[in-house]
Amino acid sequence: MATILTQATKILYRKLLLNLEQVAGESGVTGLGIRFVHSTGWRCSPTAVQNGRRLNVGVMGAGRIATTVHLGNIINHRRLNLKWITEDNPERVQIVKDLFDLDDKLFLTSRVLPDLLSSKDLDAVFVFTPTDSHYSIVCESLSKGKSVFVEKPTGENMKEIRSCYEHSEKFGKPLLTAFQRRFDPAFQKVVSAAHSKSIGDIQMLNFRSRDSPKPSYDFLGAVGTSSTGCGILTDLAVHDIDLMVWITRAQRPESVYVVTHTHDTKMAEFGEADTMVAVVKYKCGILATLDASRYAAYGYDMRLEVFGSDGLATVENPKVSSEVIDMGRGARMTRLNESFTQRFRESYINEIDHFIDCVDGKAKPLITKEESVMTAEIIEKGLESFRLKRPVYF
Ligand SMILES: NC(=O)c1ccc[n+]([C@@H]2O[C@H](COP(=O)([O-])OP(=O)(O)OC[C@H]3O[C@@H](n4cnc5c(N)ncnc54)[C@H](O)[C@@H]3O)[C@@H](O)[C@H]2O)c1
Repeated sequence: MATILTQATKILYRKLLLNLEQVAGESGVTGLGIRFVHSTGWRCSPTAVQNGRRLNVGVMGAGRIATTVHLGNIINHRRLNLKWITEDNPERVQIVKDLFDLDDKLFLTSRVLPDLLSSKDLDAVFVFTPTDSHYSIVCESLSKGKSVFVEKPTGENMKEIRSCYEHSEKFGKPLLTAFQRRFDPAFQKVVSAAHSKSIGDIQMLNFRSRDSPKPSYDFLGAVGTSSTGCGILTDLAVHDIDLMVWITRAQRPESVYVVTHTHDTKMAEFGEADTMVAVVKYKCGILATLDASRYAAYGYDMRLEVFGSDGLATVENPKVSSEVIDMGRGARMTRLNESFTQRFRESYINEIDHFIDCVDGKAKPLITKEESVMTAEIIEKGLESFRLKRPVYF
């Protein structure tokens, strides 16, 4: 890996990393080239705080989400000055160095983290390490007076998540848990319609979470180890649960029932579910259904329906492009986005802008302690239902 990569090899790497080698439907659009726009100039959101001191930031973890989503946004954000990246895997270091043309000096191992966090110059950190490391890293960073942006989920369970937010309160520094759908304009408008009661009282919530491309078996197996076979709930549908908590303003549900099946024979070998339906009932009468699949052959399919007494609010899937070619015998249109990196491209930029607003003291983190703890509580009850194979009450 220590070789200097040619431009062609870099492009190949980018394709492999993003799993975008499949041509997107009939449009002939591959999706390639929209993520790594580092060399061609990254858009800085107009909502970003354009002026002000540049914030010195560190990044922990240079794996999948860092490489495919966040690093490009951080490096190219005019308010952020990337001081260092900690990553213990030398292969990952080399990949990231080559992809982003980064200087050797930026990379350090996690052993030196305590020293890095002691620096008075450092304003904030971005945590993109595996979930089981979040709790200790988040608490240590906050206790050293650094603002923290952490990929979801904040910790492995309710106790850890509550403690992370208590550190944020104690040390007076913002903690932002990056549930990216919160920063998507379509989800924001639908939730706003639900909150303003413009569709009346909410009676039903229907969430569809069907992933694409299928994550690697290594990833799916690792998720299974920490979640007793129901990673589809803790890793994938956690985004829907966060939305449900947001829409219901963190009400505690009455019950949850999780039913799963595994269609994929390899996943069956390591005992991990690939398909899930969950039903959540609230005391106020709201019934929520969540259906999730680890793989949708037709593309990344994430939808929401809020059914109210006076109307309906929905978030549909955007397509790769909007043309429809109608040929008399039928119409041809483009397929859905290939993956979360495309679908939520704008949200990932928005969430960094929001984090900067929080560090500047101009906003409070959109995802609150009460919401994060309630999301974790619903997940824990959902896992109990999965294990017991019956509805579980709160
Ligand atoms: N918001 C989303 O849609 C989304 C999508 C994918 C992943 N995630 C979340 O992002 C986090 C990371 O996921 P991923 O898929 O990128 O994982 P990954 O395993 O691909 O990457 C994690 C990286 O962190 C490195 N690492 C491990 N411990 C470290 C430490 N103490 N200090 C520094 N580096 C360390 C690993 O070597 C690895 O390169 C998880 O919490 C996951 O839930 C969120």
